[in-house]
Amino acid sequence: MKEKITSLLEQAEAYSIENTDHSEQFRLKFLSKKGELNNLFADFKNVPNEEKKEIGALINAFKEFCQSKYDASKELFSASASAQSIKDDFTKPGFPYASGGIHPLTATRQRIISIFEKIGFTVASGPEIEDDWHNFSALNFPENHPARDMQDTFFIDSKFALRTHTSSVQVRLMENNKPPFRSLMPGRVYRNEAISARAHCFFHQVEGLYIDKNVSFADMKQTLLYFSKEMFGEQTKIRLRPSYFPFTEPSAEMDVTCFICNAKGCNVCKHSGWVEIMGCGMVDPEVLKNCGIDDQVYSGFAFGMGIERIAMLKYRVNDLRLFSENDVRFLKQFQSADE
Ligand code: DAH
Repeated sequence: MKEKITSLLEQAEAYSIENTDHSEQFRLKFLSKKGELNNLFADFKNVPNEEKKEIGALINAFKEFCQSKYDASKELFSASASAQSIKDDFTKPGFPYASGGIHPLTATRQRIISIFEKIGFTVASGPEIEDDWHNFSALNFPENHPARDMQDTFFIDSKFALRTHTSSVQVRLMENNKPPFRSLMPGRVYRNEAISARAHCFFHQVEGLYIDKNVSFADMKQTLLYFSKEMFGEQTKIRLRPSYFPFTEPSAEMDVTCFICNAKGCNVCKHSGWVEIMGCGMVDPEVLKNCGIDDQVYSGFAFGMGIERIAMLKYRVNDLRLFSENDVRFLKQFQSADE
């Protein structure tokens, strides 16, 4: 009996099925009422009890093989048959296929870029693994500044770290090119933070740099007002609050009128009517010097904003982690987000 099953299995394996007729013949030979499989089941009655377990398993394996070979052939030929009929009838509607959407962070980044491109900014990029000079020293961070601390920075070794902000790209740009600059530098940044709804160990920023002769704080204010109106609506107002960054002097933090409640007060703006969206300031002359630019001739401004923060405000997302979890139930909600 064992030999018989093995030889039938070999036959079934070798059976070539090239069309629907072959597939039907295969079924008749092996799987039909009068087919080989049923014959085996009939013979099984005569198998001595002590062999039943082993022979039973062999018959089952044979059955499974034949059934799946037959099923696969049926599926193959029915798919190609329908493809064939579609080919023949051009008036039939096409197969609908699921289209993806643009990730909300990508959509936000592209929106920011396209707003600044309209006023002459171009995009630049730099490495995510940075040395101390580009991430800190050239940007005027004092030797013992807390941002250099192990708690904030992912160090790779004594020389390299994952960049903690895109401001490092400013330095590379200024070192390697000649002014004037009108640049936007989007990219991913890393901080050694506990992951929560409001903080992550990586996120995205867009850095801006504008350097030329006779650039003033008023130029910065007007540029950022233009951006805010384009991004959040014509009625948007901005306010600049004094702040501190080692690489700008004077430095400011910029708020926009809350576009969710039209500055009337809601829980997003904590009932103040304002939401903070970026840091900015006039590039510190020390930074220009560090990058080989004559600070007597040139001046300029810089700004930096978090893409997640802007996307969270714009789309009212209340958990930062959602952006990197790739949950399609979240992502599908942005299928129509404009780029
Ligand atoms: N690098 C700052 C940060 O990560 C953001 C920033 C503030 C960038 C002021 C700038 C600036 O260019 O001028 O928090």
